[in-house]
Amino acid sequence: MTAPAPAPKVASLPDGQTVLSVKHWDDRLFSFRVSRPASFRFRSGEFVMIGLMDDPNPETGKQKPILRAYSIASPFWDEELEFYSIKVQDGPLTSKLQKIQPGDQVIVKTKPTGTLVLDALLPGKRLWMLSTGTGVAPFASLMREPETYEKYEQVILTQTCRLNSELEYGVDLERRLMEDPLVGEEAREKFVRYATTTREESPRMGRITDLMKSGKLFTDLGVPKLDPTYDRIMICGSMGLNMDLKEILEAQGFTEGANSRPGEYVVERAFVD
Ligand code: A2P
Repeated sequence: MTAPAPAPKVASLPDGQTVLSVKHWDDRLFSFRVSRPASFRFRSGEFVMIGLMDDPNPETGKQKPILRAYSIASPFWDEELEFYSIKVQDGPLTSKLQKIQPGDQVIVKTKPTGTLVLDALLPGKRLWMLSTGTGVAPFASLMREPETYEKYEQVILTQTCRLNSELEYGVDLERRLMEDPLVGEEAREKFVRYATTTREESPRMGRITDLMKSGKLFTDLGVPKLDPTYDRIMICGSMGLNMDLKEILEAQGFTEGANSRPGEYVVERAFVD
């Protein structure tokens, strides 16, 4: 007689994926990697709903999933999925999610969507990816997408945060990109990261909107001012930043794109904030 198989240590959740690693960047930000469902396909820059079960209802014992939209921060060809998250101490999801450990399960819904995709932009010369904080996540995927380098001569990622520690994930993304076996060589020629802080001293300071208006952004990078003929722009930040950038771009003749109707810029809110 054979012994019965041991029960799994972690109860399987519907749509559950296994946490493989977790990295805490500071007391407000962390990233984690989970297993990828075998049949799951997405386009770099898209988001999915992810989450955990809430605490059991004291009377019924029932649990409900708490799901939020998260951009996938890994490229489409990666065997694992990466996510980048803020920690909100009383946030319904992130108060729990920040405690995950390797071996735990996270719910990952496999219906990807979003507008920060290469297909939503008309052909152009230079791709700008403008972000604040966790808004860098979709660009973490796009910057490792081979098509990004096939379509553009130059790829510029800007990230503005209040503090230096909030830029560390972006520093690591750039390091990983430069070593990437698939796109590293092209990225070394075409990719530039431009990071600024607004509330702590750093080599580059200021809101991206102000740096655009003053022209310092373009002088620092040695590129011409924005031109709807050549420049393509993706924006992912807070509601205020997105609105302000939209206004600046539309005043210069840029039109917003969508999956069904490509344009010169696209915008999406950084979800978990
Ligand atoms: P600031 O420190 O001047 O508010 P937050 O943490 O509030 O989401 O902000 C992230 C970064 O985005 C901060 O550096 C912040 O600058 C900047 N920011 C916030 N709102 C805007 C906006 N409307 N336009 C440009 N930058 C913004």
